Amino acid sequence: YGSLAGLVQRNPRFSKFNDDDVRYFEGILGSKNVVQDEDRLVTSNTDWMHKYKGSSKLLLQPRTTDEVAQILKYCNSRCLAVVPQGGNTGLVGGSVPVFDEVIISLSSMNKIISFDKVSGILVCEAGCILENIISFLDNEGFIMPLDLGAKGSCQIGGNVSTNAGGLRLVRYGSLHGNILGVEAVLANGTVLDMLKTLRKDNTGYDLKHLFIGSEGSLGIVTKVSILTPPKLSAVNVAFLGCKDYISCQKLLQEAKRKLGEILSAFEFLDIHSMNLVLNHLEGARNPIPTSLHNFYVLIETTGSDESSDKQKLEAFLLGSMENELISDGVLAQDINQASSFWLLREGIPEALMRAGAVYKYDLSIPLEHMYSLVEEMRTRLGNTANVVGYGHLGDSNLHLNVSTPHYDEKILSQIEPFVYEWTSKHRGSISAEHGIGLMKANKIYYSKSRETVQLMASIKNLMDPNHILNPYKVLPHSLTS
Ligand code: FAD
Ligand code: MLT
Ligand code: ZN
Repeated sequence: YGSLAGLVQRNPRFSKFNDDDVRYFEGILGSKNVVQDEDRLVTSNTDWMHKYKGSSKLLLQPRTTDEVAQILKYCNSRCLAVVPQGGNTGLVGGSVPVFDEVIISLSSMNKIISFDKVSGILVCEAGCILENIISFLDNEGFIMPLDLGAKGSCQIGGNVSTNAGGLRLVRYGSLHGNILGVEAVLANGTVLDMLKTLRKDNTGYDLKHLFIGSEGSLGIVTKVSILTPPKLSAVNVAFLGCKDYISCQKLLQEAKRKLGEILSAFEFLDIHSMNLVLNHLEGARNPIPTSLHNFYVLIETTGSDESSDKQKLEAFLLGSMENELISDGVLAQDINQASSFWLLREGIPEALMRAGAVYKYDLSIPLEHMYSLVEEMRTRLGNTANVVGYGHLGDSNLHLNVSTPHYDEKILSQIEPFVYEWTSKHRGSISAEHGIGLMKANKIYYSKSRETVQLMASIKNLMDPNHILNPYKVLPHSLTS
């Protein structure tokens, strides 16, 4: 894709770092945590999709909140722009520099600080990798209310900063509900201790929410406290085939009624996504390989009573077969089979990457209209591209992806602004869960009013008056340059 930096101008107010700056950082962090190694910088300058590439020559690795505070205070005084970076799995170009911004990696802040087995409240540093937290909690008999395909690399600080949704939101709700507290450092180095471990705290404005989903534009999250649910003994996963989209939609309504409190995931993929996974991921196998299904649904239930949960799920599946909402299906017999079903859904982003160039859209759209957009896009692009739809059906979250062998500006001009206009017309959101980043900074008005964006800009000006934090991202460039 090359660099998208051409879309924006480097803000000339920002300084370029010099040898004195490097010496100052080495004084705080030690020379091994001030990285100028080219190979390491290539990785940190490039996003997961290999679509966005910055040209930063400096990466800092603080180990404590105090170090983050000292770095930011100094960068602010020198007007050096910075990009906070977690696991660098973000999908909207938010986690890499656009130009020469200094990268601040949270990777070395990866300690679990405390876990209270009675309340289920975990306090940890922002750089903890999600999968490590999941394993830690598993040993304690608890689970994370958040799970996503990038768990092996993404960090909790990145999850909080993007307000990641993922595979369990249908059951546990968004991070705005599960994150009880954060510690964050402002652009001028002020440390905000909002690391509460309380379920209830109505003492005025709840400012932690500003850091949930603001993609590093208001401060660096250094610690978080999370409410985690106990691990329940009965987990079941079913992989189902549906002949058309309306059946998937009705199946969701039925699942909400019949599975109710035990429903923990409701994901869907179309046949085109399935074919991509089968063609590009080794080990992927379709458990219901007939041509009857144009759609697949993965349902997970989590409950406390093995036999009654199974009974409920089986009755639901039988009823759905009789009503012809599903044309076939399998219930995983063991954890390996359950993982193989999950691979078919979680493996789609990786399969898309292997297939070539990908134009990725993450949309909230009212359920009844959701798949019409995929069909319209397919008609628009004809045989020039492979248009696939999958996502978190239980949350009305569509991942519309267009796959082509090579990147082509002409294709992009057929997709955008159509996709945003369509979404806006149907009162959807142009970012359901991935955020705005660089990709959608100038598109925000499709989903937010002028007045709302203006207030966002005022908050940015108040908290980061020099705009050193993650510049060119989140807000329209006209408001921040
Ligand atoms: P990064 O990519 O490093 O950063 C993301 C943003 O947060 C950037 O703007 C960055 O500046 C900022 N940031 C990072 N850490 C901090 C911090 N400590 N303080 C302040 N700002 C910070 N997303 C979903 O919502 N749901 C999914 O189901 C999902 N599945 C995915 C599957 C795959 C295979 C991949 C590659 C990505 C997926 N994502 C998903 C997107 C991505 O993983 C999430 O957005 C994730 O939360 C990003 O975490 P990270 O640590 O990698 O953050
Ligand atoms: C997913 O649900 O798989 C992720 O959000 C990643 C993607 O949209 O490709
Ligand atoms: Zn997703």
